[in-house]
Amino acid sequence: MLVLGIESSCDETAAAVVRDGREVLSHVVLSQVAKHRPYGGVVPEIASRAHVEAMAPVINDAMERAGVVYEELDQIAVTHGPGLASSLLIGVTAAKALSLRTGVPENGINHLAGHLYSVFLDPDAPPMEECLPLLVLLVTGGHTMLIRMDSVSEYTLLGQTLDDAVGEALDKGATLMGLGYPGGPEIEKAAQGGDPRKHPFPRGLQKGQGTVAGGLARDRCFSFSGLKTSLLYWLRDNPDAIQNGGLPDLAASYQEAAFDALLDRLERVTREERVQHIACVGGVAKNRRLRSRLDELAATLGVKLLIAPMTYCTDNAAMIAGVAGAATLRGQSLNPVADVFPNLPLSSPKS
Ligand code: KG4
Ligand code: ZN
Repeated sequence: MLVLGIESSCDETAAAVVRDGREVLSHVVLSQVAKHRPYGGVVPEIASRAHVEAMAPVINDAMERAGVVYEELDQIAVTHGPGLASSLLIGVTAAKALSLRTGVPENGINHLAGHLYSVFLDPDAPPMEECLPLLVLLVTGGHTMLIRMDSVSEYTLLGQTLDDAVGEALDKGATLMGLGYPGGPEIEKAAQGGDPRKHPFPRGLQKGQGTVAGGLARDRCFSFSGLKTSLLYWLRDNPDAIQNGGLPDLAASYQEAAFDALLDRLERVTREERVQHIACVGGVAKNRRLRSRLDELAATLGVKLLIAPMTYCTDNAAMIAGVAGAATLRGQSLNPVADVFPNLPLSSPKS
């Protein structure tokens, strides 16, 4: 089962070839981060124009590196949502054009399903069925979710952020601290040697009861907007703190408040759902402090932790080709690409 994956949902143009949902033959990602850095965030029109420029060379590169010709492919899997409409359109159009030209069928894939599956791109990860049900903490710039995965095509949303995503909170916090974009890695760097318990920033929804819109238990959900606001006020009240050497403690404390909130919900839901396997995926899972705290939590709870390999945490096409191949091998039908779906919810690899 040879799958070409194409990903363009945000600001990375990516293509990859994956065999049988597990073996990555090639994986090419062209990050546009330098183009967006001057604006402190992703500018949709700049992103889609950059995708137009990069898409064909990135796909050609992935095919060449894999040593594969189009006739050998079983499908072309492409992210059709969620994401920026004008960015998704470039990948979807490329996949449709390639499919028409080569006769290889296309398969529309949910970007979030790709992230969930990314832990299985680790060659050392056990077979997926041995890890189910899997409780996944998905932490990206746009989403913060707790999802129970019962098979490659059955996902249940158990909790999510009620406002900012954790990556967004890190990005916005970094801007307030005068650090660069994207903020997550900048805060991680600045936090080196800092005291994570120095400033008691809020942990969000600590004493939540009842349910929130959508019927999710409030104590399984997250809120990060208060964290960012409290940093804003702290900086207003302590305007000289950063230039007086306070940055490491500030960055470490801010990051720790966000991670405490993630780990608190993850611990509770792991116990309540009685799962034996937990996972963490998405760009924020690159953070070494978060990775080591997850290791500690898994050891305390006596469960097995799967973490996406560093290179597959941030957006990439290997996770798209991977989940597409895994789903097809388990009898899922292909999903002809009809449109782009900027707000696509997560209920199956294709949703
Ligand atoms: O998964 P991703 O590449 O894109 C989305 O689908 O959103 O995640 C991007 C997010 C950004 O908010 C970025 O700041 C964060 O991942 N991130 C990190 C680190 N590397 C990337 N956050 C914390 N520590 C990192 N080392
Ligand atoms: Zn993503």
